[in-house]
Amino acid sequence: MGYKAKFRVWRGESGEGRLEDFTVEVNEGEVVLDIIHRLQATQAPDLAVRWNCKAGKCGSCSMEINGKPRLGCMTRMSTFTEDETITVTPLRTFPVIKDLVCDVSFNYEKAREIPSFTPPTDVKPGEYRMQQVDVQRSQEFRKCIECFLCQNVCHVIRDHEENKPAFAGPRFFIRIAELDMHPYDVRDRRPQAAQEEHGLGYCNITKCCTEVCPEHIKITDNAIIPMKERAVDRKYDPLVWLGSKIFKR
Ligand code: F3S
Repeated sequence: MGYKAKFRVWRGESGEGRLEDFTVEVNEGEVVLDIIHRLQATQAPDLAVRWNCKAGKCGSCSMEINGKPRLGCMTRMSTFTEDETITVTPLRTFPVIKDLVCDVSFNYEKAREIPSFTPPTDVKPGEYRMQQVDVQRSQEFRKCIECFLCQNVCHVIRDHEENKPAFAGPRFFIRIAELDMHPYDVRDRRPQAAQEEHGLGYCNITKCCTEVCPEHIKITDNAIIPMKERAVDRKYDPLVWLGSKIFKR
């Protein structure tokens, strides 16, 4: 059975804006993105929202729903009571372009700072032999759909704009971890670079990134903590330290 829901949606551009109230029809089985589309079709034709697949796989419709970072297409209306007012706002960590659409280019800049996978030259594609545990690690990290909800929720940059130049963020810590632990990546990535150059040291393991990941990637346990351990092992291992002094690596 359908009902009328109360929606409060952030409208505005370039930092100026306000919350606007709407009453809008909801039908059985719908998700928040359906309601945003109905608003566009009936009451707010210029309401800007980024979306694409409507199946939780493209990572486009990231937004904050009642203050929680979520995908609009994966948030069922049935999770709210019928008399609840549902507030929809853009991601807080990135500059707003218009309404619910943010400029997420910060993330693409961070992606460019990580050198790509570098395989050995003497092993041809198809000849790679990897242990299942290494395959599974890459597969888990590669489930990332780049919705940037983890980047948005991390307090290191959510509350501190000034940390952005020094902090790559959880999405890129899983990328760095995947490459650093990949048995066929031959680039010397120095695990402590993650700590010092990409800002892993700013992370104090709040695990908020893991909580919001729609792909349920264990960002903190499987990527961030192992990378912190690898960085520390390498930095404080007396044999590695001595070797680095002797061979000036
Ligand atoms: Fe941020 Fe995740 Fe660490 S939310 S503080 S990167 S555990």
